[in-house]
Amino acid sequence: MPPTTRSDISLRVNGETHALTVDNRTTLLDALRENLGLTGTKKGCDHGQCGACTVLTDGRRAVSCLQLAVAAEGADITTIEGIADGEDLHPVQEAFLELDGYQCGYCTPGQICSAVAVIKEHAAGWPSAATDDVRPDAEPVPLDAAEIRERMSGNLCRCGAYTAIVRAVARASDEAKVTA
Ligand code: FES
Ligand code: FES
Repeated sequence: MPPTTRSDISLRVNGETHALTVDNRTTLLDALRENLGLTGTKKGCDHGQCGACTVLTDGRRAVSCLQLAVAAEGADITTIEGIADGEDLHPVQEAFLELDGYQCGYCTPGQICSAVAVIKEHAAGWPSAATDDVRPDAEPVPLDAAEIRERMSGNLCRCGAYTAIVRAVARASDEAKVTA
């Protein structure tokens, strides 16, 4: 029997399970955009370097251009289309809108998915490369501009909207603390 180059898989995306047949080499990014029509997730470099394709996989950020769709079976994937709660925007989306955290908007879905996870990672006490004291019993560090820049450094913005992006992430993080 010749080796098969296609697989039947099911992907759970934004709370819905989809059955699809894909070439084994299909990336999660292409499966989302081409098979499921979820074009909010953008393709920038297709090489894991720009962050435009960032989604959440089991709540953690992942660049979907570097993951094969067949390897994403069983994971709970959230794309930008699934970040809001129905008609209610996520606080990160609200902050990006209110503080102009974008210009052309191409990087924005990835920026927002990343920021959602950054705020959770920080709240859970995960250090970053900008954190001075990384001992497990160290005092929590504030999510200041240096921490945000470092933690969001995998998401490039060709328009250079970084100043407003940092402000938006800080605003959303402050709101998350108030509502926690
Ligand atoms: S498109 Fe995936 S990191 Fe650039
Ligand atoms: S807003 Fe244009 S690339 Fe970021």
